[in-house]
Amino acid sequence: MVAPPQRVAALLLASATLASGWNTFTVPHTDGQNDTPGLLSVLSAGNFTANSTILFKKGITYNIFTPIKFPTLNNVEVAIEGNLTYPADIPTVQAAVASSTYPGAWITFTGGTNVTFRGTTDPHWGWIDGHGQAWWDAVQQNNRPHGIAFSKINGGAIKNIKLWKPIGWNFATSGAANIKITGNKILAVSSTGSFPFNTDGFSAGGTNLTFSGNHIENGDDCLTVGNGAKNIHWTDSYCANGHGLSIGSLGSGGSVADVQNILIENTVMVNSLYGARFKSWTGGNGLARNITWRNIAFTNVPFPIYVTQNYYDQEDGAPPSDGTTNNTHIQDFLFQGFAGTIEDRPFVEGSCVSDPCWYAVPGATGKEVAILDLYPGTATNIVAKDVFAVTETLAPVRVMCNATTITSDVGFKCWDGLYIPTKAGF
Ligand SMILES: *[C@@H]1O[C@H](CO)[C@@H](O)[C@H](O)[C@H]1NC(C)=O
Ligand SMILES: *[C@@H]1O[C@H](CO)[C@@H](O)[C@H](O)[C@H]1NC(C)=O
Ligand SMILES: *[C@@H]1O[C@H](CO)[C@@H](O)[C@H](O)[C@H]1NC(C)=O
Ligand SMILES: *[C@@H]1O[C@H](CO)[C@@H](O)[C@H](O)[C@H]1NC(C)=O
Ligand SMILES: *[C@@H]1O[C@H](CO)[C@@H](O)[C@H](O)[C@H]1NC(C)=O
Ligand SMILES: *[C@@H]1O[C@H](CO)[C@@H](O)[C@H](O)[C@H]1NC(C)=O
Ligand SMILES: *[C@@H]1O[C@H](CO)[C@@H](O)[C@H](O)[C@H]1NC(C)=O
Ligand SMILES: *[C@@H]1O[C@H](CO)[C@@H](O)[C@H](O)[C@H]1NC(C)=O
Repeated sequence: MVAPPQRVAALLLASATLASGWNTFTVPHTDGQNDTPGLLSVLSAGNFTANSTILFKKGITYNIFTPIKFPTLNNVEVAIEGNLTYPADIPTVQAAVASSTYPGAWITFTGGTNVTFRGTTDPHWGWIDGHGQAWWDAVQQNNRPHGIAFSKINGGAIKNIKLWKPIGWNFATSGAANIKITGNKILAVSSTGSFPFNTDGFSAGGTNLTFSGNHIENGDDCLTVGNGAKNIHWTDSYCANGHGLSIGSLGSGGSVADVQNILIENTVMVNSLYGARFKSWTGGNGLARNITWRNIAFTNVPFPIYVTQNYYDQEDGAPPSDGTTNNTHIQDFLFQGFAGTIEDRPFVEGSCVSDPCWYAVPGATGKEVAILDLYPGTATNIVAKDVFAVTETLAPVRVMCNATTITSDVGFKCWDGLYIPTKAGF
């Protein structure tokens, strides 16, 4: 139905005067100036914090020279249709991160309901440029900002956001619930050979989160599921170069972990250090249960399936003994439908800065499709089935597993030896 002209005029008037209905605010921009203060002053007056679209317009490159912390939003869409740029110089960003008023991420959402943060599918616009290359080249790791915090929000979406050369960590959803995270793109790829350290893709904390259609090329975990996460579904995605589809690390400093009902599926892993990965710290506590990774295609991945209850800081020397401490218990883990190639030729991953590298596994041959590094009495019903792998050198595929740590059938012969599927593995 076409609205009569007077109705259209009334709607326009309503929008301009911030009355009832839906309002759209186009973020103002001044060439060469920081565009953050103008946006924040309008929001802090209480305008456009409910039933509104906050629009970064196509055709404009906005200067986000200081962090944006949105106030509590309700029924708000923040649309990134133009480009956003961080300061290009490192000291300006470091000073903002070191400041006592730094909100914790360069773009922070916290609290509120039904909040959508969206970009566009236009390849030329809608990028958030972190200018990370200079940081990676300088191996500058002091006062690095996290990218986007989407915390404690109930309902909403993160959709079609595109990140170009972020400095470090990207999306985090701590304490959020009922959020759909779809069609986002992270390109943390160095063009000089330097390594994009700590450019984690999605840090999933919270409840009822669905991730789909995300594309990540980075230098750390593609997905990392943190403590407290429940009902997380990740599907139809692509991860390149990073450190895998990870749960944890959990149980740091003896803390009590609680992670449950996680399904990670239908994902392609390319040149990634790990495929599916679980890590809990020696001496942790609590429980991670009902976690499935399935339908994972991997190419050139050194560690397709890797579980350790013995994660530790290698800079502190040898793994601590477990004699007097507890561990994060793990239960009902399923790895199903893994197919691909294992990188078993000598390699040094870009994040390796020590000898041996942080990811080195004592006794491993590099030909293992699965490594289960477990503690006795703390792992129940861990199964790998329908696993099909070849090594790049065509050498036989192996596994690492200690039969005194788990008595149930893990889907292959539990030993340090050839991969031999067992009853549970078919
Ligand atoms: C907020 O909106 C009110 C009324 O709609 C307007 O008078 C005021 O100027 C606006 N404040 C800012 C900072 O935009
Ligand atoms: C937002 O819209 C809803 C539904 O139209 C309405 O109930 C609510 O009062 C509005 N909130 C504000 C702050 O205008
Ligand atoms: C949630 O926000 C979207 C805009 O992002 C809006 O279209 C929708 O009406 C809101 N839902 C409710 C229930 O208010
Ligand atoms: C927007 O930013 C991206 C990433 O920095 C860049 O490739 C693209 O050229 C920019 N678009 C325009 C129109 O400047
Ligand atoms: C998660 O989803 C379930 C099922 O829809 C719902 O009952 C529960 O309240 C949701 N949890 C939160 C924290 O919103
Ligand atoms: C296990 O998690 C899945 C989601 O991945 C959920 O559908 C299922 O109900 C959970 N099962 C149990 C026993 O909690
Ligand atoms: C060890 O962790 C388990 C699982 O959280 C817990 O049930 C048990 O009480 C813990 N034991 C000690 C000594 O902390
Ligand atoms: C297997 O695990 C047991 C119990 O933790 C340990 O004592 C033993 O040294 C392990 N064996 C190997 C070969 O690592």
